[in-house]
Amino acid sequence: MSLWFRKPVAQLIADSESGHLARALGPGALTLLGIGAIVGAGIFVITGTVASENAGPAMVLSMILAGVACAFAGLCYAELASMIPVAGSAYTYAYSTLGELMAWIIGWDLILEYSLSVATVALGWGANLVSLLADAGIALPPRLVAAPGQVVTLADGSHVAGLFNVPAFLIVLLITGLLVVGVRESARANAVIVVAKLAVLVLFIAVGSRFIHPGLLHPLVPPNTGTFGSFGWSGVLRGAGVIFFAYIGFDAVSTAAQEAKNPSRDMPIGILTSLAVCTLLYVAVSLVLTGVVPYRMLNVADPLNVAVAHTTAHWLGPIIKLGALAGMFSVMLVNLMAQPRIFYSMARDGLLPPVFGQIHPRFRTPHVTTTMTGVVVAVAAALLPLGILSQLVSIGTLLAFAIVCVGVLVLRRTDPDRPRPFRAPWSPFVPLGGVGVCLYLMWGLPSETWLRLVVWLAIGLAIYFGYGRRNAVAVRQAATAPAGARPAL
Ligand code: ALA
Repeated sequence: MSLWFRKPVAQLIADSESGHLARALGPGALTLLGIGAIVGAGIFVITGTVASENAGPAMVLSMILAGVACAFAGLCYAELASMIPVAGSAYTYAYSTLGELMAWIIGWDLILEYSLSVATVALGWGANLVSLLADAGIALPPRLVAAPGQVVTLADGSHVAGLFNVPAFLIVLLITGLLVVGVRESARANAVIVVAKLAVLVLFIAVGSRFIHPGLLHPLVPPNTGTFGSFGWSGVLRGAGVIFFAYIGFDAVSTAAQEAKNPSRDMPIGILTSLAVCTLLYVAVSLVLTGVVPYRMLNVADPLNVAVAHTTAHWLGPIIKLGALAGMFSVMLVNLMAQPRIFYSMARDGLLPPVFGQIHPRFRTPHVTTTMTGVVVAVAAALLPLGILSQLVSIGTLLAFAIVCVGVLVLRRTDPDRPRPFRAPWSPFVPLGGVGVCLYLMWGLPSETWLRLVVWLAIGLAIYFGYGRRNAVAVRQAATAPAGARPAL
């Protein structure tokens, strides 16, 4: 049955050798790519929601719980990325371990992670830009900085409804243009930005920690309000599911495998180092944030700035806003770079039309899908609200991570002798732990988020059974047919 067709690992690697993407990235660039994809709206925007609505000072526990899920998944990703160093991330791994249907489901699911996350981050970026410009006395027309139906409060206290989020729209288009021109240039721009945003977070921790009031951190876990997810331990759990968004991105490193100089060594380094650096920073930022400001005051789009306003170091305010803008910029850059590369792999397997696999003859980038993805994401960013988007991204990514962990277990049984330059330690504890923690975090998310995930997956299955399945079989048959009989793809 084609549904369960598994692409042999050797075939995946052979396919990648025939790829036309430029090999430009070393271990340092890959780590920066990971951090570039990770540190963004999650830490700069969503921490405010989690602290004020879910966990209070216990956000630090939510952060650790989400970090544990990512550590398990990261170790599994590292094993697969070193063993199957080809473009496509979890999609590719699923194709060789769990079969075509699961590969399609995960590929479809990853659209939530890579595309919808960019739309989410673009909204956070737009909100920070508006606030920075307002500080400089420049007011943008309020109807043009918010999604339709979203209420904007004006300086005089009156309200207007948004029409179209122009800043979010334009920033996505700008990044799309940058990515079409070339991965080497984009990686260079990314490196500069990553250093800047890390410096800003370190500065926030160093300065903010001098203003912590220990009393604000007691009780660490505020009592539950009677509603699941609103403080108490269920709040810690829901907070972990929501703030998981902040960690998303380390796996983007694995989508660049075909552009890595030495993928089997450099992929694990890039994935695990970027994850470790971000986890440490996030835990420290959470403590400082909730230690400096009463958590109920953090329900804003720029929580770190509220914290700074509670210190005497007001000079830090504009620096944080610039750091947030830079941070979110690189998150969008890396994730928008990752998405077309997954489409590229899916098109090569026949699950998507061939146009998704086209590479630009001069720039050597998948220019057609980059442009298509960029335009769709820009429109989504202009028209949709942030809260809904970010939770859908989290649940979709948690599902993908759980499947990756299962993939490691399956491949250890079905292909035990293939060299694994990196092995996830303490197997099966680590992969099973990854599945368990990811499912646990998903379980803590609201039922509406589950419903949206189910609808999204149902649409994906309709496309698979309507197109992908048939076409993938045709592509495989064409590949095994005598040369003269092959149709041009
Ligand atoms: N982890 C990324 C962010 O927080 C998606 O913006």
